[in-house]
Amino acid sequence: MSHIVIKTPSQIEHMRVAGRLTYQTLELLREHARPGITTKKLDKLAREFMRDNGATPSFLGYMGYPASICASVNDTIIHGIPSGYALKDGDILSVDVGACIEGYHGDAARTFLIGEVDEETKHLVEITERCFTEGIKKAVAGNFVADISREIQRIASEAGYGIVREFVGHGVGKQMHEAPEVPNFFAPRMPVVRLRAGMTIAVEPMINLGTAGIRILKDGWTVKTADGKPSAHYENTIAITDCQPLILTDA
Ligand code: MF3
Ligand code: CO
Repeated sequence: MSHIVIKTPSQIEHMRVAGRLTYQTLELLREHARPGITTKKLDKLAREFMRDNGATPSFLGYMGYPASICASVNDTIIHGIPSGYALKDGDILSVDVGACIEGYHGDAARTFLIGEVDEETKHLVEITERCFTEGIKKAVAGNFVADISREIQRIASEAGYGIVREFVGHGVGKQMHEAPEVPNFFAPRMPVVRLRAGMTIAVEPMINLGTAGIRILKDGWTVKTADGKPSAHYENTIAITDCQPLILTDA
């Protein structure tokens, strides 16, 4: 979709309902993400929790995606397909969840620490969250999408990390992916998009400990770092207002 859909306050309230369930699903998974559990089990927990709460998993069947969550371990950046892999002490797990209620989607991701994680990787996870929280301080009507992008890039770059360029944040609403794109970096000649009240976007820094390069596995989904070093992901769906944004994927 190429045009930006502005939501009414009542549509944003609907998105908050989907967003809340998305958040609650992530919180459920946070509790269960412990050494020994398989990512397939986490997928099942998420699917059943969404179903029991009147939501459908946005990802299941999306462009043929075979699961209800993405579960991306260590050097998997995004789109890790849940499997029989059992989490182990020292892993990091990026979980991405989308829940759809009454036609509106929430989209959010977190990177969880499994047991004792080394300091370097923990720092990556912290900075990735900071990229989001600092980035959305610029997410105010009248600013530009690029103001968010630039802020995310500044924080990741100051830490010396690689910023994934092939995948970006996006508008979200009745479609899981709407206009505009929300890159985590700035480059000249990107479309100039002014933020307006009522826009709903998913801001989602994907940050690599090492180089920015990626590779995609033959399954057509799994995106890994080119150098095998860990990567972190942090995402929320937000609504633009004339002051600070509303985080829709929240309690
Ligand atoms: N949540 C991801 C995004 O932010 C996409 C989900 S994976 C897919 O774009 F399987 F649904 F494609
Ligand atoms: Co997203």
